Amino acid sequence: MPEPDVTEIAPDLYRISVFVPEINLQFNHFVRIRWISFSHTESDECGSLPEWLQAAPSATPVCSQIGALVNRDFVSTVREARGMADGETLETGKYRFRFLRTAQLPHGWDAGVLYEETEQTLLCSDLFHQNGPCEPITESDVVERARNSLREYEAGVLADYVPYSPRTDQAMQRLAELNPRTLAIMHGSTYVGDGERALHELNGVLRDIFGEA
Ligand SMILES: [Fe+2]
Ligand SMILES: [Fe+2]
Repeated sequence: MPEPDVTEIAPDLYRISVFVPEINLQFNHFVRIRWISFSHTESDECGSLPEWLQAAPSATPVCSQIGALVNRDFVSTVREARGMADGETLETGKYRFRFLRTAQLPHGWDAGVLYEETEQTLLCSDLFHQNGPCEPITESDVVERARNSLREYEAGVLADYVPYSPRTDQAMQRLAELNPRTLAIMHGSTYVGDGERALHELNGVLRDIFGEA
């Protein structure tokens, strides 16, 4: 396992990045120890959740209500998960995380995202996925990188990343309306800039790639 690269990408929010050269991809984790949240149940999102909960005895898993229900055997194995309703907030003292249910976006019935409102940071999971070794933070465009990465995946075994439906557009518009300043992206660089615009542009990319019959 290569050494992780740790960068504070927003106040008190650390991006712990591991690059796996075999598949040319970074895996970024945005860690807080009192609460351990994830977007959807998948090995790279939360496969090590039990180990994290063992290592941090006061930590509670946080996921969507659906995730807490349908994946109960996994998410609540060590400690009962807090299942978040759409629009509900998680207060952590200085910060306030609003949960948005985004079922099937990027994928998974249980998918959702957290938006930290005081610093305007969107923890956006697989959205804006960028292949390759990327700098920790960028103010340059990440949408074209995401388009190229998704196109690459469409050509191989990782095709069909996002199940596209009319609800995809609605969910992306809703995320754009948050007007985030920082996009904490799971694979690739964190983006700082006009998050509203980037989300609208990514919405177009998703439609171009996954909306075609
Ligand atoms: Fe995923
Ligand atoms: Fe992922």
